[in-house]
Amino acid sequence: MRAKLLFLSLLSFHLVSAQSPNIVVLNADQPGPVISKHIYGHFAEHLGRCIYGGFYVGENGSPIPNTNGVRNDVVAALKNLQIPNLRWPGGCFADTYHWMDGIGPKDLRPTIVNRWWGGVTEDNSFGTHDFLNMCELLETEPYLSGNVGSGTVKEFADWMQYVNHDGVSPMAKLREENGRKTPWNVKYWGVGNEAWGCGGNMTAEYYANVYRQFATYMSGWSNEDGIWRIASGASDADYNWTETLMKNVPSNLVDAVALHHYSVINWSKKSSATGFTEEEYFTTMQRATQMEELIQKHVAIMDKYDPENKIALVVDEWGGWYDVEPGTNPGFLFQQNTIRDAMIAGVTLNIFNNHADRVKMANLAQTINVLQAVILTDEEKMILTPTYHVMEMYKVHQDATLIPVSVISGDYMSGDKKLAAVYASASVDKNGATHLSLVNIDASKEQEITVKVGGSKSYKSVGGRILTSAKLQDYNSFEKPEAIKPVNFSGAKLSNGTLTVKLPAHSVVMLELK
Ligand code: AHR
Repeated sequence: MRAKLLFLSLLSFHLVSAQSPNIVVLNADQPGPVISKHIYGHFAEHLGRCIYGGFYVGENGSPIPNTNGVRNDVVAALKNLQIPNLRWPGGCFADTYHWMDGIGPKDLRPTIVNRWWGGVTEDNSFGTHDFLNMCELLETEPYLSGNVGSGTVKEFADWMQYVNHDGVSPMAKLREENGRKTPWNVKYWGVGNEAWGCGGNMTAEYYANVYRQFATYMSGWSNEDGIWRIASGASDADYNWTETLMKNVPSNLVDAVALHHYSVINWSKKSSATGFTEEEYFTTMQRATQMEELIQKHVAIMDKYDPENKIALVVDEWGGWYDVEPGTNPGFLFQQNTIRDAMIAGVTLNIFNNHADRVKMANLAQTINVLQAVILTDEEKMILTPTYHVMEMYKVHQDATLIPVSVISGDYMSGDKKLAAVYASASVDKNGATHLSLVNIDASKEQEITVKVGGSKSYKSVGGRILTSAKLQDYNSFEKPEAIKPVNFSGAKLSNGTLTVKLPAHSVVMLELK
């Protein structure tokens, strides 16, 4: 009945606003779940210049201002984003990482070869203490990804004991000898990464058994009730992976199942991060908006086995993936970041918000100098990317209550292919302010949107900010670091209770309604 009423009200609204095909209904009288702040999480792998040169410049006399080796400019920028969690040390690196290599005196730590990422020497100077202390500095929650592919159950359990045990135990003693008496109480633990690929090339059935074994030994330490065991999840549309895990892993052994989805045009021809055509842009948008279908279908499987919604879906790798910048190490995955990336971020975060009942956490890949980074560094210089600005604009949704939205969108056409042009999500924060995030992915056409408010709620004022640029290919460079940044938005008008918004082509807008 409610759906029918909504349809009728949308239809009548459609008739009176025939000039605008775009209608967004804010179902303000039907509040949804809280949007977990952890949807706005990040990911830092030992890959290229993410850790070394990105986060960490070492304690020994770097001219770059730092605190215990961690760049002060990066800390300030990430604190401004209020990053809720940070995943480490991988990625593929995680299943080659032996945490004991990264503790104790730095000059005694072994060096290893980073076989996944450029074959470079990893000197282990950034290890468990460095990462967890950095998370304290960033006021963010660590998410540790444990080694399943080439590690042992004992090694994994010892890491948990080392990090979390409050009391007398061999690993707690070792931690104290290394300078840290109190445990860090890490809540989020990944049980391997991409077990179907770099994490061991396992079948779903085999991993489900291995997962059960590892998860068995992931409790029994002081904060056992609080930890989250996150199973290595599917890639893209591998629904069999999710089905097999949900069927074969008892629900008392798992708190979340992961999913990875990258917006990549073609794995063997990814194309330039900045020199792309509109057709390539359209394909990237197809990949990004596919997140909606992926979440719906993985969640439908989870609903079947977990109707009480106890197990979360964690999208712990997402973002755009292009060819590396010319002249850079192909194994370092360093790419520029344009307005196209801002579109990926805006659309994806709206999708996550709208699925906040099951998607409780997500991690953009990756924070600094790798893939769809929010920060790029060059020695002492640091710039913020368009993706950073989207994350900053959207931080108002963190831990706010979802307002379900219904969207009727005009089409964004590319030849005979089409996508919806407009993507939206909304929430109300603890002070009663409503935030509506709108994205128009159309490369060249403005979209006029009529916003209708369901129920008795009405608004008296509207303000907002917009992120856009003249060309899709525009980006921030070290020469022009502020070419793209959010500015005040004057395209929203509230008149007699009706809100109309003129969304320029390829733009992200955050409105605040009171
Ligand atoms: O984010 C880069 C890599 O992409 C990660 O290491 C891996 O998990 C994924 O394939």
